[in-house]
Amino acid sequence: MILESQMIIIFGGTGDLTRRKLLPSLYHLLKKKQLTDCTPIVCLGRQKITRESFLKNLTIDKFIEDSDDAVVQDLLGRIEYLSFDVLTGSPPEFYAGIEAIRQKYKCAANSLIYLALPTTVFQKTAELVGVLLDETCWQRVVFEKPFGEDVVSARKLNESIMSVLREDQIFRVDHYLGKELVQNILTLRFANEIFASTWHEQIIDHIQITVSETLGVEKRAGYYDRSGAVRDMVQNHLLQLLSFVAMEPPRAGTADALRDAAAAVIGHLRPVEKKDVVLGQYGSGFVGNSPVVGYTAEDGVSDESVTETYVALRTYVDAPRWQGVPFYLRTGKRLKHRYADIRLVFKHKTSPLGTIPDEPNMIIIRIQPDEGIALTFNVRKPGDSGNTESVLMDFCHHCHFGPNTPEAYESILRNVMLGDHSIFPRWDWIEASWKYIDGLRRIVSPPGNYTAGSEGPVEADTLLAQDGRKWLNDNSSQQIIPLHLG
Ligand SMILES: NC(=O)c1ccc[n+]([C@@H]2O[C@H](COP(=O)([O-])OP(=O)(O)OC[C@H]3O[C@@H](n4cnc5c(N)ncnc54)[C@H](OP(=O)(O)O)[C@@H]3O)[C@@H](O)[C@H]2O)c1
Repeated sequence: MILESQMIIIFGGTGDLTRRKLLPSLYHLLKKKQLTDCTPIVCLGRQKITRESFLKNLTIDKFIEDSDDAVVQDLLGRIEYLSFDVLTGSPPEFYAGIEAIRQKYKCAANSLIYLALPTTVFQKTAELVGVLLDETCWQRVVFEKPFGEDVVSARKLNESIMSVLREDQIFRVDHYLGKELVQNILTLRFANEIFASTWHEQIIDHIQITVSETLGVEKRAGYYDRSGAVRDMVQNHLLQLLSFVAMEPPRAGTADALRDAAAAVIGHLRPVEKKDVVLGQYGSGFVGNSPVVGYTAEDGVSDESVTETYVALRTYVDAPRWQGVPFYLRTGKRLKHRYADIRLVFKHKTSPLGTIPDEPNMIIIRIQPDEGIALTFNVRKPGDSGNTESVLMDFCHHCHFGPNTPEAYESILRNVMLGDHSIFPRWDWIEASWKYIDGLRRIVSPPGNYTAGSEGPVEADTLLAQDGRKWLNDNSSQQIIPLHLG
């Protein structure tokens, strides 16, 4: 499907997100022939450099696997560079620059305006682009995360952008919602009676949601040390995953119905108590065979920092579907494995045959890497009367669909181009999630230490042990025989 002609304006064109994600995603859309010839890309940054040196600095090939030279040349040929400081620049100069490019390409006036900028300049940029709005065509403005740093700042930001933009023009990004397996949660649940009929408290014992990273703070210390894992990961990505897993069936297949259902989940979250949260901060250790420093020895982090790099959380969705079912969420940096998954663990009951099956059934949604969906169930052990063994049926996404599945940012951009809000959090969801997170942050103690390269702090194990449960780590299914159905 060819998308409408439009001018793509990227604020933060010289930044990491643009180089690593946005331009490679536009490359893929071009390769799939979804962009018209009348789709110029304007990158803005403060640096006073020429278009030629901007293009040279992009080193675009580094970020695109097996790139096709003709498509790369097509992409580069569409890129214009404008030097502009949102805080100090003169707006008429900016409008003149945009208008000159529009004339050069003789394009329709539709605009996709992407704010790949620090959140501190969102408001000023919204005021700047608000003037470009023209009722004869569409303008869509994309705001990167984080959207605020608590409920007060998020409300202030929202009020300021709502004073210049309409809700239908605003796209607030949580790139997790662009991931194929996250969007698949809804298909799994609502397009399969086999799963829909088990998705409730009578069948499900508990749910674990894990986003585990091996990387440390890297070059983001300035931002991360203010934010920490709770605000950087839980407020957005983990609560979005929780919303998709726990929501009621949406009343219709529209973006608003979906967003109503997601917002209702956050509204039903039980306020967190101190005993439900464990925070940690990584010390030195080994990731694989490589020695790594502890968090406070990282560049740009103070020796005294008490920022958490790990959080484990027990929470409940107080809706009839999930009465008494704990949701365990955890995320951290410098852990042993890099993966994100969701595990729905079924109740473990004695069977009418009089035996307790080997393991409870489990649905595993693997978000990354090795995207897929797996189901464990018990089979009779050959020649061993009564004993069972847990085996795995595993749907491997790329084995079935091949390697061309869109990356998260490609889906994000494409959905904006289509004007489809389904994978963008609405303001009421964001406000409710900040209220929940602010409540959590008010009651937590400073983080304990964990060794880099471990599974996280031991207190996180205790959190589940108190409930007679344990974390299911990435390697916990390795003893189970994989049956590839894909
Ligand atoms: N990088 C990622 O993987 C990632 C992932 C998720 C979300 N995000 C979000 O995406 C946004 C951008 O992140 P990033 O990693 O790309 O940051 P970055 O590498 O630090 O780039 C920031 C960009 O903002 C521009 N900028 C800053 N102040 C400006 C001003 N006053 N006027 C005009 N331009 C200004 C910079 O331009 P100059 O350098 O030319 O001055 C640069 O292009 C942030 O909100 C971040 O939280 C990033």
